[in-house]
Amino acid sequence: MNEKGKLIIFDTTLRDGEQSPGASMTREEKLRIAKALEKLRVDVIEAGFPIASPGDFEAVQAVARAIRDSRVCGLARALEKDIDCAGEALKDAVSGRIHTFIATSPIHMQQKLRMTPDQVVEQAVWAVKRARNLIDDVEFSAEDAGRSDIDFLCRVFEQAIKAGATTINVPDTVGYNLPDQFGHTIQTLLERIPNADKAVFSVHCHNDLGLASANSLAAVANGARQVECTINGLGERAGNASLEEVVMAVRTRRDLFDCDTELDTTQIVNCSRLVASITGFPVQPNKAIVGANAFAHEAGIHQDGVLKSRETYEIMRAQDVGWVQNRMVLGKHSGRNAFRARLEELGTVFNSEAELNTAFGRFKDLADKKHEIFDDDLQALVNDAGFSSENERVRLISLRVCSETGETPRASVVLSLDGQEQHCSAEGGGPVDAAFKAIESIVGVEAVLELYSVNSLTSGTDAQGEVTVRMQKDGRIVNGQGADTDIVIASVKAYVNAFNKLLQDQEETHVQQGHV
Ligand code: KIV
Ligand code: ZN
Repeated sequence: MNEKGKLIIFDTTLRDGEQSPGASMTREEKLRIAKALEKLRVDVIEAGFPIASPGDFEAVQAVARAIRDSRVCGLARALEKDIDCAGEALKDAVSGRIHTFIATSPIHMQQKLRMTPDQVVEQAVWAVKRARNLIDDVEFSAEDAGRSDIDFLCRVFEQAIKAGATTINVPDTVGYNLPDQFGHTIQTLLERIPNADKAVFSVHCHNDLGLASANSLAAVANGARQVECTINGLGERAGNASLEEVVMAVRTRRDLFDCDTELDTTQIVNCSRLVASITGFPVQPNKAIVGANAFAHEAGIHQDGVLKSRETYEIMRAQDVGWVQNRMVLGKHSGRNAFRARLEELGTVFNSEAELNTAFGRFKDLADKKHEIFDDDLQALVNDAGFSSENERVRLISLRVCSETGETPRASVVLSLDGQEQHCSAEGGGPVDAAFKAIESIVGVEAVLELYSVNSLTSGTDAQGEVTVRMQKDGRIVNGQGADTDIVIASVKAYVNAFNKLLQDQEETHVQQGHV
């Protein structure tokens, strides 16, 4: 890096991002995203909250074992069992970090923790020391710092640094701050905390008022040197600061910032697509940097200007964030090596030859139905139920639908449920409705379908339809996805995928209660 300082990018897609209702990910999915983040060269990957469930613990452990070039971080409340559990999950990491936190705002201390400010300081110091006994790199966060008293923040941060914290994080947990105010908070902390130079100051902004990226940038302008963010701005409620927005703002306006990141920004679009397709949270077309329209020009006057000189209406180059034409990459005659290589470029690495063979078989089936296979088709193909199959209790064996003008649509479904073949036929308002009813009666889990959406992955009538369903049972929300050139089959795949997640979550919640 030149004379500019380094801005550390701490990605929390796998932890805070996963806290978006319905965004829960399997260990394999987390691993795929972690590998894509490593390729993007993020500095720190927060892989999860190990004490939350055995699944979370295993995911953090798996990411810690697989990642070499980024630091892997695990979250822990300021409690002994959380910190020890995080230390255990991270023990095989090439470089690891424990991130411990306690709330510091009056409302959180009084209503949630029922602790006095003195007790909070004492607990914070104890937690940082405990974590430092396990690992050299410890981050301390003052939860709800955005609504905390500045004098108290100075006190708790000074003590946390003395206790050994190497990063001090200032979260605007409820997204309440405005940019000038938040920037001023960071400036004040850096000026007033006597040992501020012994730690990196970090920010973690939520997007409740749509200001998460703006607040993060204001903090950087005032001396913060780590930003916590997520791909596509995924995260609790309205989400976290969006990685792509923060990184590209700092890069594009390097004239205004005295620091920069070391990210390979050409990986941004791949990461965005991967996260969208794994979580089932599509990216809105007008989303900055990664939305489908981010570099599209509609108005004639703009098109004319761009053709004459790109800079007339574009402040970034599409290729610098990884927008290549969604070109035809593979076709019917492409071989396994070309298939594997292109998927690796898109961030998917196969764990075994068997996994590659299954995905390649599906690719050949798709290539029979569709001449041109685009990147989005490939991404959907590996995300389809079956790629990470170890936890699937429900599998689609066959589907037959009958839909005719003037007749009631009917569907016959054959599923494998826990290894047993089961058949059911049902009628419905349309073929999708009929198929869903048949599936429900086989699976026997009552859940509410909260969202059903179909999105065409590419153009043309032979395009694959990508279906997202969101289901809710007893307050738990899951998203299911499926893609196929036949949208009724895509819908059924999405529904089966959602049921698998609900059934898996049911098992996990059960164990989790005994674990924590
Ligand atoms: O929003 C928040 O305060 C958090 C902390 C755990 C850093 O996610
Ligand atoms: Zn958060």
